[in-house]
Order: sequence, then structure tokens, then C-alpha cells
Amino acid sequence: MGSAGLNPVFAQSGPAPQNWMHPGGIIARWQLNVFHVSLAIVLTVAAVVSVLLIYTLWKFRDRSYRPGLERKADPAGLPPQIDGNHTLEIIWTVIPVILLVVLAVPTVRTNYLLASPPPSDPIPVRVIAYQWWWAFEYPEHGVVTANELRIAVGKPVQLTFESNDVIHKFWVPQLAGKMDVIPGRINQSWLQADREGVFYGQCAELCGPSHAHMRFRVIAQPEHEFEAWIASYGREPQPRSEAEAAAFHRGMEIFAARGCSACHTIEGTVFQGKVGPNLTGFGSRMTVGAGIMSNTRENLARWVTNPGALKPGVMMPAHDLSREEQDALVTFLHSL
Ligand code: CUA
Repeated sequence: MGSAGLNPVFAQSGPAPQNWMHPGGIIARWQLNVFHVSLAIVLTVAAVVSVLLIYTLWKFRDRSYRPGLERKADPAGLPPQIDGNHTLEIIWTVIPVILLVVLAVPTVRTNYLLASPPPSDPIPVRVIAYQWWWAFEYPEHGVVTANELRIAVGKPVQLTFESNDVIHKFWVPQLAGKMDVIPGRINQSWLQADREGVFYGQCAELCGPSHAHMRFRVIAQPEHEFEAWIASYGREPQPRSEAEAAAFHRGMEIFAARGCSACHTIEGTVFQGKVGPNLTGFGSRMTVGAGIMSNTRENLARWVTNPGALKPGVMMPAHDLSREEQDALVTFLHSL
């Protein structure tokens, strides 16, 4: 995790998290196949043309040339002037046509595959983009979460994309290519993870000052773990231990008193704000601030006290909290 030189506050997701050449699902594999076919054709053409070019330069070089020697214009010394060659012209027209047809077959086929519905009955998920975070709603399960899309390995997920404000773009390099998320329009696509893992996601359309901080994760887990997560959703939050009970209740009070509850929902409680990310199950999230930082106590305390310092333009205001209040609030949030 993390690379030398990067701010340790900002969360990484394994080495080369945006390496789409290491696909984790069927959609990304189809897309990689098209790339491989194109790459093979391009490299073959480049190799043949380079060899012909080098051969021609060598074979037809001016053998009488010496550096510094003054050349006099001598029409009789010019090479033979050629005026077209039908055979060659037909060859260098027909070969590219064949190559384009060869390239078109997998390209068009893959486009139709991407636009077709998933092979088996998918889990529907509504993706709603906000400046600068993501909401994920599972309408069949009554689950709403933010910035972490949990899915079951081997099970397709049908995504519909909506935007709350400007144009965003959903991109999980190792699972699926980019999809525009446009206000007033519903786009659709699906994806599927074929192995367990945490797949890095990123908004890929410039959408304001914190566009680069509009990240997310797709967490692919075995189906029973996914089902368990769905089942545990929305239970009334409890302190994680007896020792934490006092801080937990104090944190819950602060959450209400400082206005957090005006914007955030926590299922199982009276807090039902709809402006910011839904925080139900927040304690199990890997990151804070829409994927930018690991969800540690220190990072969460920094976030709740001054989010604008970490994410320019963020809607959430700064909160002047004492050390004790920060601790209590963090304890409460981590117990969710
Ligand atoms: Cu949303 Cu860039």
C-alpha cells in the first residue's frame, strides 16, 4: 500500500490500481481483447513499414555523395522519374482495407456485447454522482451506501447512472471502461468481478475543483459475505465495547448537536439527512472523503474538523471540535 513520495494521508489501493491491462472482470477482459487485436495489427504494420523504409533508404541511397562536396544541378544525374504504379497503389489500398475489416469485427462485436444485457439476472444498482462523491443504491435490498460499491464475485451488477449536478464519469479501470454520468439522462452499463478484490474507481470527467478527489472503490467479495453485508445493513448502531459506550453516546450527541444529522443518514437512528453521503455502515468503510484517505481515526478526525483543507470546494463545513469531541465523534462513526 502507498508509494514513496506520496502524501501518506491519501489512500492507495494496491500497486498500479488503474492498470486496466490486469482485468478483474469479463467486461474489462472483452475490452482488453479488442486492444490486443488492435495492438497486434498496429505493431505488424509498423514493423513491415519500418523494414521497407530502412531497406529503401539503404538500397537507393546516393552512393556518390560525400560530406562537404558541392553538388551541381545536373538534370541528367537525377534518378528516373516515376509517374505512378498501379500495382503498388492497389496493394497499399487493399491491405489497409483488409486490416480495417479485421479490426472492425471484434470492435463491433464487443460493442454489441457491452450494450447487451448481462448473461444472468443481475443485481441492480443506482449510481448517483455528486460533486464530489458517489451514492450507490440497491433498490431491491433497500440499501444505500457511498463511495464503496460492494458486489458479489461472479454476479453481474446492472448499473444505472444519474448525476445530481454536472457531468461526471464512472471508471473502474480493472472492471469496466468509462461511462458518462450526465444530468437529466440515465445511462446504463453492467460489470462483473471474476475475482475477489478491491478495485479502484475514479471520476474521469473534469467536474470541478475536487474532480481528482472523486474516487471510489468496488469491493468484490464472495456471495455469502455480500449477502451478510446486505443483511447487516441498517441495524441500530451499538458501541463496539463496554469501554467505548460513553464515547459512543457522546459522539452521537455531537453528531446531532453539530448539525451532521441535517445532511447525513444513519439507518437505525433518527438521523435522515439527504444532502451528503449516507453513513450507514461507515465503520466498515475503507476510506473517508470519497476514497481519498484510509479510514483511520487520525484521518477521520482531520476530515470532520476541516474537510475543505483536504478536498477543496467540498460542501461539508469545518467544525471547531475539541480533542475530546473529535475522539467521541470518531468513536461513534467507527462503530457504525
Ligand atoms: Cu466527478 Cu470528475
